[in-house]
Amino acid sequence: MDKLPLQGHLSDDQLEIIPDGGILCKNGKIVEVGNFEQLRRENAKAEVEYVEGNYVGMPGLIDAHTHICWAGSRANDYAMRLAGKTYLEIAETGGGIWDTVQKTREASVEDLANLTAQRAEKMFRQGTTTIEVKSGYGLSVEHELKILEAIKRANKKTSAELIPTCLAAHILPNDFLGSQSEYLQSIVQYLLPEIKKRNLANRVDIFVEKGAFSVSEAKYYLSQAKNTGFDRIIHGDQFSKNSASLAVELQALSIDHLEYADETEIEILAKSNVFPIVLPGASIGLGERFAPARKLLDAGCSLVIASDWNPGSAPMGDLLVQAAILDAYEKLTMAETLAAITCRAALALKINDIGILKKGNKADFIAFPTTNFKEILYQQGQLKPEIIVSAKSLETNVLG
Ligand code: NIG
Ligand code: FE
Repeated sequence: MDKLPLQGHLSDDQLEIIPDGGILCKNGKIVEVGNFEQLRRENAKAEVEYVEGNYVGMPGLIDAHTHICWAGSRANDYAMRLAGKTYLEIAETGGGIWDTVQKTREASVEDLANLTAQRAEKMFRQGTTTIEVKSGYGLSVEHELKILEAIKRANKKTSAELIPTCLAAHILPNDFLGSQSEYLQSIVQYLLPEIKKRNLANRVDIFVEKGAFSVSEAKYYLSQAKNTGFDRIIHGDQFSKNSASLAVELQALSIDHLEYADETEIEILAKSNVFPIVLPGASIGLGERFAPARKLLDAGCSLVIASDWNPGSAPMGDLLVQAAILDAYEKLTMAETLAAITCRAALALKINDIGILKKGNKADFIAFPTTNFKEILYQQGQLKPEIIVSAKSLETNVLG
């Protein structure tokens, strides 16, 4: 994935394929990537881990948007949606996110850490070595802190690297005695400083939608978060066009979802550095349209694809399957799809030492049992990586 442009169209022949390759690593970092025999000749003392058979190696996958810290199940919501109710209708009658909040509040920090680590390990086995994880099922100072603490503990129990985000501005909790604005004010006053103090997250997210928060409420919240030193992310344009201008104005890192982004939203984003993160898992889970990924790329954006794994809208949690489905519907090239779950996803998370196999980056890579990289997306996520290496798994000596 080295030397690819950050934005816009990518063709498959821009991917640099190294036949009979090797990766020279030291202390968890890549020292060189190149022809295996040559690397071996030039580094005669290096310990060699041979990989027998045919494999295609690439950077570990990066999932830049998930909500994997939750308790309970929303199988009943899913059945109701299949029977004709919409996501927003279920939320209005007390189901949806609020249902998960109640179950998550009941769970202990240790139980939540274990549930999160189990999900992260499942993703790791599918090749995802870095996972963004949002809170957002606590919705009170006490419970949001508990969830962020659980994510921190989970990070010690998995070989994947977890990146926490505070999503206390998910919805107005049913038990808050006040308005949307008052709830946001209370988070700004009591929760955000505490998160900083305990060093639990550097990022905040807000859901901008009918039934969640309005554009002007989000503007207040994100400005305050910016002043407190948080990076900003928006759940926007999921069911209605709403927040591209806001994302650009407040220099958000990314705007995520975008199923209802139209030409004007796309144009606004294309003129900015805001990453569009599209979430095909939510479209599949809700039976909704896909975000206009092709148009975003054609307009010159840097497209990222993430799983959005959560108990409500996106219960599948398989990034590679979802990316493969999206690329078939949206006509994304394999290079665009793979960049969207590796190098471009890394930058959307402001991480610059993963997502590309190159000197100086972390030893973070996966390998699929095939001779042709095109098999990876062609098999639509059913070809699984057999070798998965992360800085953490090296520490625990997974590959020697
Ligand atoms: O990204 N849209 C808002 N939040 C999540 C869903 C959360 C849930 O339904 O539990 C999403 O789709
Ligand atoms: Fe989400």
